[in-house]
Amino acid sequence: MSEAAPTDASANLYPAVRNDAYPVYLPMTEEAVAAHYNNFYEFSAIKEKVHELVDDFVTEPWTIEITGHCARPGTYDVADLVKKFGLEERVYRLRCVEAWAMVVPWTGFPLNKLIEMVEPTAKAKHVRMFTVNRPDQAPGQKKQSWYPWPYFEGLTLEEARNELTMMVTGIYGHPLPKQHGAPIRLVVPWKYGYKSIKSVVKIELTSRRPDTFWETLAPREYDFWANVNPAVSHPRWSQATEQMIGSGKRVQTLKYNGYRKQVGHLYK
Ligand code: MTE
Repeated sequence: MSEAAPTDASANLYPAVRNDAYPVYLPMTEEAVAAHYNNFYEFSAIKEKVHELVDDFVTEPWTIEITGHCARPGTYDVADLVKKFGLEERVYRLRCVEAWAMVVPWTGFPLNKLIEMVEPTAKAKHVRMFTVNRPDQAPGQKKQSWYPWPYFEGLTLEEARNELTMMVTGIYGHPLPKQHGAPIRLVVPWKYGYKSIKSVVKIELTSRRPDTFWETLAPREYDFWANVNPAVSHPRWSQATEQMIGSGKRVQTLKYNGYRKQVGHLYK
Protein backbone atom coordinates (compact mmCIF):
# COMPACT_ATOMS: atom_id res chain seq x y z
CA MET A 1 0.00 0.00 0.00
CA SER A 2 1.28 3.48 -0.77
CA GLU A 3 1.37 5.34 2.52
CA ALA A 4 1.91 9.07 2.79
CA ALA A 5 4.76 9.51 5.26
CA PRO A 6 4.15 12.54 7.51
CA THR A 7 6.54 15.34 6.55
CA ASP A 8 7.91 17.91 9.01
CA ALA A 9 5.18 20.31 7.95
CA SER A 10 2.38 17.83 8.63
CA ALA A 11 3.82 15.82 11.53
CA ASN A 12 1.88 17.62 14.29
CA LEU A 13 -1.41 17.99 12.44
CA TYR A 14 -2.58 14.37 12.40
CA PRO A 15 -4.69 12.95 13.84
CA ALA A 16 -6.97 16.00 14.04
CA VAL A 17 -9.75 16.37 16.60
CA ARG A 18 -12.96 14.68 15.43
CA ASN A 19 -16.05 16.82 14.83
CA ASP A 20 -18.94 14.61 16.01
CA ALA A 21 -21.71 16.79 14.56
CA TYR A 22 -22.31 14.37 11.66
CA PRO A 23 -22.94 10.88 13.10
CA VAL A 24 -23.05 7.92 10.70
CA TYR A 25 -24.98 4.86 11.86
CA LEU A 26 -22.90 2.28 10.00
CA PRO A 27 -19.55 0.67 10.85
CA MET A 28 -16.41 2.37 9.55
CA THR A 29 -14.74 0.77 6.52
CA GLU A 30 -11.34 -0.75 7.30
CA GLU A 31 -8.46 1.45 6.22
CA ALA A 32 -6.75 -1.19 4.05
CA VAL A 33 -10.03 -1.95 2.29
CA ALA A 34 -10.58 1.72 1.40
CA ALA A 35 -6.96 2.11 0.28
CA HIS A 36 -7.15 -0.83 -2.15
CA TYR A 37 -10.43 -0.03 -3.90
CA ASN A 38 -10.16 3.36 -5.57
CA ASN A 39 -11.64 5.24 -8.47
CA PHE A 40 -8.79 7.35 -9.84
CA TYR A 41 -8.87 6.99 -13.62
CA GLU A 42 -5.66 9.00 -14.01
CA PHE A 43 -3.89 5.84 -12.79
CA SER A 44 -6.17 2.97 -13.80
CA ALA A 45 -9.78 2.08 -14.50
CA ILE A 46 -9.27 -1.01 -12.33
CA LYS A 47 -10.01 -0.05 -8.73
CA GLU A 48 -7.84 -2.76 -7.15
CA LYS A 49 -4.81 -1.66 -9.23
CA VAL A 50 -4.79 2.10 -8.54
CA HIS A 51 -2.73 1.89 -5.34
CA GLU A 52 0.00 -0.07 -7.19
CA LEU A 53 0.43 2.62 -9.85
CA VAL A 54 0.77 5.83 -7.85
CA ASP A 55 4.43 5.68 -6.79
CA ASP A 56 5.73 8.12 -9.46
CA PHE A 57 3.08 10.73 -8.68
CA VAL A 58 4.81 13.78 -7.12
CA THR A 59 2.53 15.41 -4.55
CA GLU A 60 4.92 17.69 -2.68
CA PRO A 61 5.25 20.67 -2.90
CA TRP A 62 1.72 21.41 -4.15
CA THR A 63 -0.09 24.64 -4.91
CA ILE A 64 -3.68 25.47 -5.85
CA GLU A 65 -4.36 28.29 -8.28
CA ILE A 66 -7.59 30.18 -7.54
CA THR A 67 -8.94 32.27 -10.42
CA GLY A 68 -12.14 33.80 -11.76
CA HIS A 69 -14.68 36.05 -10.07
CA CYS A 70 -12.94 36.89 -6.79
CA ALA A 71 -11.09 39.86 -5.32
CA ARG A 72 -8.02 37.86 -4.24
CA PRO A 73 -7.06 35.38 -6.96
CA GLY A 74 -3.66 33.77 -6.51
CA THR A 75 -1.61 30.63 -6.12
CA TYR A 76 -1.71 29.17 -2.64
CA ASP A 77 0.56 26.55 -1.11
CA VAL A 78 -1.41 23.65 0.41
CA ALA A 79 0.83 23.46 3.49
CA ASP A 80 0.13 27.17 4.15
CA LEU A 81 -3.63 26.68 3.73
CA VAL A 82 -3.61 23.84 6.25
CA LYS A 83 -1.67 26.00 8.72
CA LYS A 84 -4.07 28.89 8.21
CA PHE A 85 -7.37 26.97 8.45
CA GLY A 86 -6.43 24.11 10.78
CA LEU A 87 -7.79 20.58 10.38
CA GLU A 88 -10.70 18.59 11.77
CA GLU A 89 -11.79 15.00 11.30
CA ARG A 90 -15.27 14.04 10.10
CA VAL A 91 -16.64 10.55 9.51
CA TYR A 92 -18.76 10.64 6.34
CA ARG A 93 -20.59 8.17 4.17
CA LEU A 94 -19.12 7.88 0.66
CA ARG A 95 -21.58 6.67 -2.01
CA CYS A 96 -20.31 5.90 -5.51
CA VAL A 97 -22.71 6.18 -8.46
CA GLU A 98 -21.80 2.52 -9.15
CA ALA A 99 -23.89 1.53 -6.07
CA TRP A 100 -21.07 0.70 -3.65
CA ALA A 101 -20.36 2.63 -0.47
CA MET A 102 -17.91 3.15 2.37
CA VAL A 103 -17.74 5.00 5.69
CA VAL A 104 -14.53 6.98 5.92
CA PRO A 105 -12.87 9.38 8.43
CA TRP A 106 -11.62 12.38 6.44
CA THR A 107 -9.31 15.12 7.76
CA GLY A 108 -9.61 18.59 6.24
CA PHE A 109 -11.22 22.01 6.42
CA PRO A 110 -14.51 23.43 5.07
CA LEU A 111 -14.17 24.62 1.45
CA ASN A 112 -16.07 27.73 2.53
CA LYS A 113 -13.00 28.95 4.45
CA LEU A 114 -11.03 28.98 1.21
CA ILE A 115 -13.85 30.69 -0.67
CA GLU A 116 -14.16 33.42 1.98
CA MET A 117 -10.40 33.98 1.84
CA VAL A 118 -10.47 34.86 -1.90
CA GLU A 119 -13.57 37.10 -1.54
CA PRO A 120 -15.95 36.04 -4.35
CA THR A 121 -17.57 38.88 -6.28
CA ALA A 122 -21.30 39.09 -7.06
CA LYS A 123 -20.66 37.43 -10.44
CA ALA A 124 -19.43 34.19 -8.82
CA LYS A 125 -22.23 31.60 -8.99
CA HIS A 126 -20.33 28.32 -9.47
CA VAL A 127 -17.05 26.69 -8.53
CA ARG A 128 -15.05 24.65 -11.01
CA MET A 129 -12.11 22.43 -10.01
CA PHE A 130 -9.38 20.65 -11.96
CA THR A 131 -7.08 17.72 -11.21
CA VAL A 132 -3.47 17.74 -12.35
CA ASN A 133 -2.62 16.63 -15.91
CA ARG A 134 0.64 14.65 -15.79
CA PRO A 135 0.63 11.67 -18.16
CA ASP A 136 4.31 11.02 -17.32
CA GLN A 137 3.40 10.35 -13.68
CA ALA A 138 -0.13 8.99 -14.16
CA PRO A 139 -0.21 5.90 -16.41
CA GLY A 140 -3.99 6.02 -16.82
CA GLN A 141 -3.78 9.47 -18.39
CA LYS A 142 -1.17 8.23 -20.84
CA LYS A 143 -3.00 5.00 -21.75
CA GLN A 144 -6.56 6.35 -21.82
CA SER A 145 -5.76 9.33 -24.02
CA TRP A 146 -9.35 9.53 -25.33
CA TYR A 147 -10.57 10.95 -21.99
CA PRO A 148 -10.81 14.77 -21.81
CA TRP A 149 -8.01 15.23 -19.24
CA PRO A 150 -7.53 16.83 -16.83
CA TYR A 151 -10.48 15.62 -14.71
CA PHE A 152 -12.78 18.53 -13.90
CA GLU A 153 -15.85 18.91 -11.68
CA GLY A 154 -18.13 21.66 -10.48
CA LEU A 155 -20.61 22.77 -7.85
CA THR A 156 -22.92 25.71 -7.41
CA LEU A 157 -21.46 28.34 -5.09
CA GLU A 158 -24.14 27.45 -2.53
CA GLU A 159 -23.18 23.77 -2.65
CA ALA A 160 -19.52 24.69 -2.34
CA ARG A 161 -20.23 26.86 0.71
CA ASN A 162 -22.39 24.26 2.47
CA GLU A 163 -21.07 23.22 5.89
CA LEU A 164 -20.54 19.60 4.71
CA THR A 165 -18.29 20.41 1.74
CA MET A 166 -14.67 19.82 2.69
CA MET A 167 -11.21 20.17 1.22
CA VAL A 168 -9.55 17.02 2.49
CA THR A 169 -5.85 16.42 3.14
CA GLY A 170 -6.02 13.31 5.30
CA ILE A 171 -7.81 10.03 5.95
CA TYR A 172 -7.75 7.59 8.93
CA GLY A 173 -5.76 10.09 10.97
CA HIS A 174 -2.83 10.70 8.59
CA PRO A 175 -2.09 12.54 5.33
CA LEU A 176 -3.89 11.23 2.24
CA PRO A 177 -2.19 8.31 0.51
CA LYS A 178 -1.78 9.09 -3.18
CA GLN A 179 -4.56 6.77 -4.34
CA HIS A 180 -7.09 8.76 -2.27
CA GLY A 181 -6.16 12.05 -4.01
CA ALA A 182 -3.06 13.39 -2.26
CA PRO A 183 -2.29 15.99 -1.22
CA ILE A 184 -5.71 17.67 -1.36
CA ARG A 185 -9.14 16.72 -2.72
CA LEU A 186 -12.77 17.70 -2.47
CA VAL A 187 -15.37 15.71 -0.48
CA VAL A 188 -19.09 16.32 -1.08
CA PRO A 189 -20.84 13.58 0.91
CA TRP A 190 -24.44 14.03 -0.30
CA LYS A 191 -23.45 13.65 -3.96
CA TYR A 192 -22.16 10.61 -5.82
CA GLY A 193 -18.39 10.13 -5.46
CA TYR A 194 -17.53 11.49 -8.91
CA LYS A 195 -18.03 15.04 -7.58
CA SER A 196 -15.32 14.50 -4.97
CA ILE A 197 -12.44 15.40 -7.30
CA LYS A 198 -8.95 14.29 -6.27
CA SER A 199 -5.54 16.02 -6.34
CA VAL A 200 -6.94 19.49 -7.04
CA VAL A 201 -4.59 22.05 -8.66
CA LYS A 202 -6.98 24.74 -9.80
CA ILE A 203 -10.24 26.30 -8.58
CA GLU A 204 -12.15 28.77 -10.72
CA LEU A 205 -15.13 30.89 -9.61
CA THR A 206 -17.42 31.15 -12.62
CA SER A 207 -20.70 32.81 -13.47
CA ARG A 208 -21.83 30.03 -15.84
CA ARG A 209 -22.54 26.47 -14.78
CA PRO A 210 -19.31 24.55 -15.58
CA ASP A 211 -19.02 21.37 -17.64
CA THR A 212 -17.87 18.26 -15.78
CA PHE A 213 -15.69 15.33 -16.84
CA TRP A 214 -18.16 12.44 -16.59
CA GLU A 215 -21.10 14.50 -17.76
CA THR A 216 -19.15 15.41 -20.90
CA LEU A 217 -18.55 11.69 -21.56
CA ALA A 218 -22.03 10.35 -20.65
CA PRO A 219 -24.55 13.14 -19.93
CA ARG A 220 -27.47 10.81 -19.15
CA GLU A 221 -25.46 8.82 -16.62
CA TYR A 222 -23.46 11.37 -14.61
CA ASP A 223 -25.57 14.46 -14.35
CA PHE A 224 -24.13 17.72 -12.98
CA TRP A 225 -27.09 18.06 -10.62
CA ALA A 226 -27.43 14.46 -9.39
CA ASN A 227 -27.66 13.95 -5.64
CA VAL A 228 -27.61 10.53 -3.96
CA ASN A 229 -31.22 9.45 -4.33
CA PRO A 230 -32.67 5.92 -4.03
CA ALA A 231 -35.72 6.93 -6.12
CA VAL A 232 -33.77 8.01 -9.22
CA SER A 233 -32.23 5.03 -11.01
CA HIS A 234 -29.07 5.23 -13.05
CA PRO A 235 -30.01 4.40 -16.68
CA ARG A 236 -28.25 1.01 -16.26
CA TRP A 237 -29.01 0.04 -12.63
CA SER A 238 -31.15 0.81 -9.59
CA GLN A 239 -29.88 3.20 -6.91
CA ALA A 240 -32.29 1.88 -4.22
CA THR A 241 -29.58 -0.02 -2.32
CA GLU A 242 -25.80 0.00 -2.05
CA GLN A 243 -23.14 -2.55 -1.17
CA MET A 244 -20.73 -1.74 1.67
CA ILE A 245 -17.17 -2.41 0.50
CA GLY A 246 -15.44 -4.73 2.95
CA SER A 247 -18.42 -6.40 4.63
CA GLY A 248 -20.31 -6.84 1.34
CA LYS A 249 -23.50 -5.98 3.22
CA ARG A 250 -26.30 -4.44 1.16
CA VAL A 251 -28.01 -1.45 2.81
CA GLN A 252 -30.79 0.95 1.84
CA THR A 253 -29.61 4.07 0.04
CA LEU A 254 -30.71 7.28 1.79
CA LYS A 255 -31.78 10.46 0.04
CA TYR A 256 -28.88 12.94 0.03
CA ASN A 257 -26.86 10.02 1.44
CA GLY A 258 -28.39 10.72 4.86
CA TYR A 259 -27.55 14.45 4.89
CA ARG A 260 -31.04 15.88 4.28
CA LYS A 261 -30.84 18.08 7.37
CA GLN A 262 -27.77 19.88 6.08
CA VAL A 263 -28.59 20.11 2.35
CA GLY A 264 -32.33 19.57 1.81
CA HIS A 265 -32.92 23.34 1.67
CA LEU A 266 -30.61 23.67 -1.37
CA TYR A 267 -32.99 21.71 -3.59
CA LYS A 268 -36.44 23.04 -2.66
N1 MTE B 1 -10.99 12.38 -9.00
C1 MTE B 1 -10.18 12.22 -10.06
N2 MTE B 1 -9.30 13.18 -10.35
N3 MTE B 1 -10.25 11.14 -10.88
C2 MTE B 1 -11.17 10.14 -10.67
O1 MTE B 1 -11.21 9.17 -11.44
N4 MTE B 1 -13.04 9.36 -9.28
C3 MTE B 1 -14.17 9.81 -8.45
C4 MTE B 1 -13.69 10.59 -7.22
N5 MTE B 1 -12.67 11.56 -7.59
C5 MTE B 1 -12.06 10.28 -9.56
C6 MTE B 1 -11.90 11.42 -8.71
C7 MTE B 1 -15.04 8.72 -8.01
S1 MTE B 1 -16.04 8.05 -9.23
C8 MTE B 1 -15.09 8.28 -6.72
S2 MTE B 1 -16.24 7.12 -6.23
C9 MTE B 1 -14.17 8.79 -5.70
O2 MTE B 1 -13.18 9.67 -6.25
C10 MTE B 1 -13.44 7.63 -4.99
O3 MTE B 1 -12.62 8.11 -3.93
P1 MTE B 1 -11.69 7.10 -3.12
O4 MTE B 1 -10.88 6.29 -4.10
O5 MTE B 1 -10.82 7.94 -2.24
O6 MTE B 1 -12.61 6.22 -2.31
